Amino acid sequence: MADSTQKRLCRLDEVAEGSSRGLTASCAGRLYDVFVVRKHGELYAYLNRCPHTGGPLDWVPDQFLSLDRQHIQCATHAALFRIDDGFCVAGPCGGQSLARLPVTIKDGEVYLDEQKFCAEGD
Ligand code: FES
Repeated sequence: MADSTQKRLCRLDEVAEGSSRGLTASCAGRLYDVFVVRKHGELYAYLNRCPHTGGPLDWVPDQFLSLDRQHIQCATHAALFRIDDGFCVAGPCGGQSLARLPVTIKDGEVYLDEQKFCAEGD
């Protein structure tokens, strides 16, 4: 069972292998757009905010990946980010990274550590 600082984001099986999904997370009553990606059985979660302009990465709901599904891709200027750590490998925000979210998986559910997420700020 999750502790009181862990907020459920989604079920793990709602994110198919090789796909992404947009979600909403809260911190102190404020809502944030976030997304998750599943690759090689692992789940990665990030704030939906491009380090280039601060805008969202997706142009279609739940579509955060490049066509070959090897990178996260920003829809605005096509920056590419590694899925496993959010590091930008191509595009105008080269060398910067997406903000990774503290998530854990328990009993097939994905939880955000809200206390840690809020402490890391935006
Ligand atoms: S806004 Fe993402 S690359 Fe420019």
